[in-house]
Amino acid sequence: MLNFSYCNPTRIIFGQGQIAQLRQQVPQAATVLMLYGGGSIKQNGVYDQVKAALEGNRVLEFGGIEPNPSYETLMGAVALARAEGVDYLLAVGGGSVIDGSKFVAAAVPFVGEPWDILAKRAPIESALPLGCVLTLPATGSESNNGAVITRKATQDKLSFLNDKVQPLFAILDPQVTLSLPPKQVSNGVVDAFVHVVEQYLTYPVNAPVQDRFAEGLLLTLIEEGPKALAEPENIEVRGNIMWAANLALNGLIGCGVPQDWATHMLGHELTVLYGIDHARSLALVLPAMLTLRKQGKRDKLLQYAQRVWGLDPADGDIAIETAIAKTKAFFQQMQVPVTLSDYQLGCEAVDAVCAQLEKHRMTKLGEKRDVTLEMSRQVLQMSL
Ligand code: NZQ
Ligand code: ZN
Repeated sequence: MLNFSYCNPTRIIFGQGQIAQLRQQVPQAATVLMLYGGGSIKQNGVYDQVKAALEGNRVLEFGGIEPNPSYETLMGAVALARAEGVDYLLAVGGGSVIDGSKFVAAAVPFVGEPWDILAKRAPIESALPLGCVLTLPATGSESNNGAVITRKATQDKLSFLNDKVQPLFAILDPQVTLSLPPKQVSNGVVDAFVHVVEQYLTYPVNAPVQDRFAEGLLLTLIEEGPKALAEPENIEVRGNIMWAANLALNGLIGCGVPQDWATHMLGHELTVLYGIDHARSLALVLPAMLTLRKQGKRDKLLQYAQRVWGLDPADGDIAIETAIAKTKAFFQQMQVPVTLSDYQLGCEAVDAVCAQLEKHRMTKLGEKRDVTLEMSRQVLQMSL
């Protein structure tokens, strides 16, 4: 396995009724800015639980953070936090609210234009402390150091990674996910699945611990995902998905192994251009990405075929193709479309995504940096 340094300092507080733990986690003297999305937390009781737990604090609010959070919206929160002397952020929502809050945490004390944090990877000297209440298991953002922010005006969806914005704690109460629309349940399962694949389906480096963990997460998502759709009231299933999605991108399974992320880079461009939900963009790209690169990923694809889908690796190419077909069928079982034409997109979308990739210098992607623009074009054409 490769060298690595690993520390995940986010405290995970898991279980029903655990939002009340905010009282112990947030310092009494803090002036808190509570950030949230379009209002789902006001319908499902999460907002009231948070307010009750923070009774002793001065709490300000910033709602309206949209899916694929925008710089334009978030700068409103930055202005509010600066004007009111906020010294603690609490993100209450899914990946978008948490990512947006990470940007706000870094932007408030930032001297200069905060967009440079994304566009120029400007160094971050300090950030406000951040805690979160997760309402949508999917991204793993609640206990990692990454965030993806969109600048609508220029159609840029860019990411940054910084330990200073890693949440101090994350409350994972599966009860709060019962109000998710089925589409978001599906999105969460597919996003987490692809996170594992991006870190697992590369090339072998003799890292059996990471491989077995990754396979365990994939199998859990394959088993529990359809159950969450079939039994929408089953809170145990929701809890298992919440924990799996967290572990899929909390850094653990990515330690000491090569990582791909090409599917995510193409997906981000599809989202910024066409508004396709993040997870859905990945389901469009991944099967073709694996098919086109099956030589470079051969050993791990055979392992995936055998251990995740129960296929015989002696069947070689047939096992690989069947495993990819089963992956696609799993996405479809989760009611997630797998072709661009499902979104009425054709060749013009292929050109547009490639232009964006070029603009963002995404022309050497993947674990071997061998995914050229031409290959990305082929992947998109195969996804039509
Ligand atoms: O805004 P509200 O009203 O809260 O509604 C949201 C939103 O419309 C709704 N929702 C969330 N929890 C709910 C709920 N509705 C009912 N009940 C609940 N309990 O779900 C909708 C989607 O929410 P969003 O936060 O956008 O979804 P997700 O968690 O999938 O986050 C997607 C964002 O995360 C980024 C994506 O690019 C995208 O911008 N990612 C972040 C990563 C990271 N930081 O590590 C990695 C990922 O690969 C990803 O790129
Ligand atoms: Zn993702």
